[in-house]
Amino acid sequence: MPSELSPIDKAKFVAAKQATQYVEDGMKVGLGSGSTAAWLVKCLGEMVEKEGLKIQGIPTSTRTADLAREVGIDVISLDEAKWLDIAIDGADEYDGNLNLIKGGGGSLLQEKIVATASDQMVVIADASKSVETLGSFPLPIEVVPFGWQTTKTLVEETLIGMDVLGRDVSLRMNGDAPFYTDEGNHILDLHLNRIGNARQLSLVINQIPGIVENGLFIDICDVVVIGHGDGRVEIRDINQGTVEEDRIDFVENDNLFADLND
Ligand code: A5P
Repeated sequence: MPSELSPIDKAKFVAAKQATQYVEDGMKVGLGSGSTAAWLVKCLGEMVEKEGLKIQGIPTSTRTADLAREVGIDVISLDEAKWLDIAIDGADEYDGNLNLIKGGGGSLLQEKIVATASDQMVVIADASKSVETLGSFPLPIEVVPFGWQTTKTLVEETLIGMDVLGRDVSLRMNGDAPFYTDEGNHILDLHLNRIGNARQLSLVINQIPGIVENGLFIDICDVVVIGHGDGRVEIRDINQGTVEEDRIDFVENDNLFADLND
């Protein structure tokens, strides 16, 4: 492996590379967002260029769309695709049932729409994303800008009745200004520490006016591919109930690594 890559980047790369095995000619592929998904997009771009892979990519953020076009993937919108064969994306946390927290990068809404519109969702991650119970990572929720402070208060009041260990809610910032998602909304980060009943919380949060969507992905993910810094990968398939191991080896001069850490 290239010596300049950190163990965490190696882990992300091998997870992404392994997940390309799910992609076949003619597929419509949901392309996730974040640093792990960026590896995937690069790997798929290389397969398009060197192996003649023919896919259509449906990106979950403008950043991913830009990268996908840059590496030569045919990019179409979800409305053009209508239904996808597979979505491959990163995650901020996954538990033993493959329920997830996503949205650390602010793309949870498009990611959830795309994943839900796919026959299969495959998550790629390093082992640090594994948790027994979701909630250490702050739960992102997407909120419309209109009256967001009122919505935040409603969220705080709602959390009082929920099975969580923390209740701090913060507006995500981009420097001195509020962060805006690709859909023109804000993100509230819920510092819950432990989510006792993620399914219930997801349903209740989405009932609050002003909330567009939350970052809990319940019963959406089918497979998690977990990468390790030494090249090992573990594949957990929730539908088949299987856990398999594999290993990714690659050549040190692979040009995939030239500009990926931006
Ligand atoms: C983007 O909004 C997120 O859902 C990402 O999928 C998640 O934050 C994982 O990102 P990394 O792969 O960069 O850890």
